[in-house]
This record gives sequence, structure tokens and C-alpha cells, in this order.
Amino acid sequence: MFDYSDKNVVVVGGTSGINRGIARSFAKAGARVAVASRDPKKVEDTVAELASLGATSTGFSADVRDQPALAEGLQSVQDAWGDIDVLVSGAAGNFPALATGMSANGFKSVVEIDLLGSFHVLQAAYPLLRKPGASVINISAPQAFLPMVGQSHVCAAKAGVDMLTQTLAQEWGAAGVRVNSVVPGPIADTEGMKRLAPTPELMERTRQSVPLQRLGEAEDLGNACLFLSSPMASYISGVVLPVDGGWSLSGAASLSAVLAKVLQQN
Ligand code: COA
Ligand code: NAP
Repeated sequence: MFDYSDKNVVVVGGTSGINRGIARSFAKAGARVAVASRDPKKVEDTVAELASLGATSTGFSADVRDQPALAEGLQSVQDAWGDIDVLVSGAAGNFPALATGMSANGFKSVVEIDLLGSFHVLQAAYPLLRKPGASVINISAPQAFLPMVGQSHVCAAKAGVDMLTQTLAQEWGAAGVRVNSVVPGPIADTEGMKRLAPTPELMERTRQSVPLQRLGEAEDLGNACLFLSSPMASYISGVVLPVDGGWSLSGAASLSAVLAKVLQQN
């Protein structure tokens, strides 16, 4: 449905779960796809998978908390392929813990990966983006606008990510760069959901709390990113788009209740 041939796509945090699924969607749509994350083995495996789908693919290893390493990796992609058409920034960390049950360093780690890390990625990539025409997508979370027990660090960080999206949509609009957030609901077989709903019962309860009565697939997010980066979305910038089967309308509150119970028992 979407043709991304001759487009350069970078997915930061693209070596597992949802973001790897997004990288796969762009690869299937004909794009050249680069992925980045900390673990070189995960980078290598993902590059091989994308190549097996027929895509031109590369990757680099960097921690989003290390802006010089990121900048160097992003520059290497632009040197090889030219300006970046699509940038997806999705590296994140999460663990369930009450505010009184985590150290200041625990809170800081998540904020530094999710929020400061997103800033590092977007700021380092900006000179390398195609202007006009680039699409930037931040991967947010329902915690950005729905307070959730055991998620003070993630709520604070992801709320910041969405404000970054909206601020940069204003700052970069005149250069023809669009910036949007995509908000996944509960996505099946992901590290994020395993950490928040660690038993089959909790996962099933979560599934039932989604109005569409199913967990999402990484491909659902891939489809949203393909649309948002396409000419069909050329007048869409600064939006925070839930891709969650309606979960953020009310269902996400049930996860907060589940987390409250689990964490009180610990
Ligand atoms: N409860 C309370 N505190 C925790 C914790 C938990 N379950 N897990 C980690 N922390 C704290 C650590 O104790 C440490 O604080 P301290 O130095 O005061 O003891 C702090 O968080 C940093 O931990 P560390 O393991 O050194 O961080 P890291 O930078 O290597 O890893 C994490 C970051 C903790 C977010 C790690 O879980 C990670 O790398 N996650 C990526 C994958 C992921 O979370 N996927 C889901 C995405 S939604
Ligand atoms: P995941 O599989 O753990 O993916 C996280 C990715 O980020 C991995 O590629 C990881 O690779 C990379 N990463 C983590 N810390 C990094 C760092 N410091 N620097 C560079 N890369 C780093 O997680 P997921 O569950 O699919 O979640 C993906 C995104 O969707 C996240 O932004 C998350 O907040 C969001 N989300 C998920 C859900 C869900 O249902 N899972 C719901 C809402 C929102 P390395 O380990 O190699 O670094």
C-alpha cells in the first residue's frame, strides 16, 4: 500500500519488540532501514533480518544517553545513504516500582533513556534530516497522559516526550519537518508488557480491557508509522496518536489497578 523505495529510515531502539516491528514494516515497504541500540548482537541480528526481507540495511550500536556516539552513528548513515527521510525514536526502559521503592538513580535512568535520550536523538539527527519532507516519530506510551501506579518515572518521562514532539513540531515546521508521537497500547509478546503484566492471567485481563478485545501487534504500529510518514499525512504534525484499540479511553486504568495490587504484595 505504501512505497518507500529510495527512502532512508532510521529506527533508534529498533532491535527488538515494537520498534523492530516498525523497522520491518518500512523494510517491507521498500525503504533502506538503519537500526540502532546498545547491544551490537541485537543490531547485527536485526540488520540480518531486514536484509532477509530484501531491504538495504545497516545499523550501529549506541546508548541514547551518549549523544556523541549517537551523532557519529547517525552521521555514518547519512554518509552512506544521504539525508534521513524518516526518523523513529523509540528507545526506552521501564520497570514497575512504587516511587518509594526506587532510588533516585532508578527514576533518573528511565528519564535519561526515554526523555533526555529522545532529545539527544532528535537534536543529533536534525542536521541530517531531509528538508523539506522528513517525518520524525517519537514512540510514546499511554503513561504520558494516564497516571499509572508504579510508573512515576515512565509517566514523567513520556509526558515529556510528547511535549518534545509538540514543541519541535512548532520549531521545525518551517523547515518542512513534521514531528509526531505514536502511542502503542498493550502490544503482545513485548518486553514492555511482560514487565507490567508478568503472568498469563494479568495479560488476559489486559486483553479484556481493550475495547477491541485484542492485544496489539507490532505491525499495527508499523502501519501507523507508514501512514504518518507518507504523503497522505503531509499536513499532520504535532499529533499524539494512540494506536491501542481504544485502550487509553478507559482500559489503561485497569492496568494501574493491577500494578497497585502486584506492587503492594511485594
Ligand atoms: N525496581 C527498582 N529499581 C530498579 C529496578 C526495579 N525493578 N530495576 C532497576 N532499578 C534501578 C537500579 O537499582 C539502579 O538504581 P541504583 O543504582 O540506585 O541501584 C537504576 O535502576 C539503574 O539500573 P541499571 O540496571 O544500572 O540501569 P541500566 O541503565 O543498565 O538499565 C533499565 C536501564 C533499568 C531501565 C533496564 O531495565 C533496561 O535496560 N531496560 C531496557 C528494556 C526495557 O525496559 N524494555 C521495556 C521498554 S518499555
Ligand atoms: P523493547 O523490546 O525492550 O525495546 C526497547 C529497544 O530500545 C531495544 O531495541 C533496546 O535495545 C533499545 N534500548 C533500550 N535502552 C536503550 C538505550 N539506553 N540506548 C539505546 N537503545 C536502547 O521494548 P518494547 O516493549 O517493544 O517497547 C518499545 C517502545 O514502545 C518503547 O518506547 C516503549 O515505551 C513503547 N511502548 C511499549 C508498549 C508495549 O506494550 N510494549 C506500550 C506502550 C509503549 P538494547 O537493549 O540493545 O539497547
